[in-house]
Amino acid sequence: MNELFKPLKGKIPDVKEIKKRKEHVKSIIIQYPRYKKILDKIEEHHQLSFGSVQPDGLFIYGETGLGKSTLLKEYESKYPRKIIDGFTKIPILYLTVPVGATPKSVASKILLNMGDPNYDRGTENNMTVRILSFVEKCEVEMIIVDEFQHLIDSESKNVLNKASNWVKNLSNEVRIPILVCGMPESNKVFVYNEQLDRRFCEKQSLQPFSYQSKEEEIEFRAFLNGLDKQLPFPEQAFLADPVLAKKIFYATKGNPFYIKKLIEESTVQALKSGSDLISEDDLYISFKSISLSTRPFVINPFNDEKFNLIDAFEKEKRMKKYI
Ligand SMILES: Nc1ncnc2c1ncn2[C@@H]1O[C@H](COP(=O)(O)OP(=O)(O)OP(=O)(O)O)[C@@H](O)[C@H]1O
Ligand SMILES: [Mg+2]
Repeated sequence: MNELFKPLKGKIPDVKEIKKRKEHVKSIIIQYPRYKKILDKIEEHHQLSFGSVQPDGLFIYGETGLGKSTLLKEYESKYPRKIIDGFTKIPILYLTVPVGATPKSVASKILLNMGDPNYDRGTENNMTVRILSFVEKCEVEMIIVDEFQHLIDSESKNVLNKASNWVKNLSNEVRIPILVCGMPESNKVFVYNEQLDRRFCEKQSLQPFSYQSKEEEIEFRAFLNGLDKQLPFPEQAFLADPVLAKKIFYATKGNPFYIKKLIEESTVQALKSGSDLISEDDLYISFKSISLSTRPFVINPFNDEKFNLIDAFEKEKRMKKYI
């Protein structure tokens, strides 16, 4: 329930209003316990390693859509950039590794994100020297490197040797903590480059929600309840209802990206009928429009009165065997 959004009482809103409410859904972030734990870990890493003679590295990994970048950007926004005496202070420097990384492309990305107008100029050495000098001037306290799996060549699957060595050298010279983050296959970079591995001993994984134990069920339903309370409607959808929560879990496999996508589409669906809440019909129609190429045999759980979570997963598994 959200009092900021006026009741529609059956009146279909204009596109501007629909867009505003859809964007509102996109911006909702729920700090559920495991998410919060990783944020706290980053804070600890930042505070304990900054100023240390030998800052430690931290590696966070997890499958696509679990919220890694959301988490990192939330941390970055906690320490905003400030202009002091004409210099931009950048407490947290966030960047993504470009696809097919080379030392120069990674260096250039760092310089670009620090506001260097000549970010793509100079030799590799010259760029590295500039990075070290900017880090000092901009008082950078921690560097966050996202999409670390881009240090692996997407076709040959080989680790991009030069780029990963360049990152290792940077982590030696820069003297501030570095946090790297990526898909689970990023681990291959550490297996290949043992020296880099030693610098990132601490590894944390982000997992999807699960629905096996009572605690896991509570965590998932609390996430849905948090989401429900912030939805741009004057009335609650009761997403955390035990039966509906199971259906949402089946539809999304507990992946925050799919949960948000389903709710975003359902928001638009409900608004288009002038409704003041998301109904199970809206979830049913939206789920039909979301195509899950990894789950060709998924069934639509919404509006199914006999839905059973275990049976639904079993049925999907059996169907998969026949292909
Ligand atoms: N705690 C959260 N609360 C609300 N929504 C979330 C949360 N975590 C993730 N999401 C949603 O999931 C979507 C995907 O998250 P994000 O892009 O951070 O995933 P990722 O792990 O970085 O994926 P990739 O590896 O593909 O980059 C986000 O757009 C966001 O809407
Ligand atoms: Mg990401």
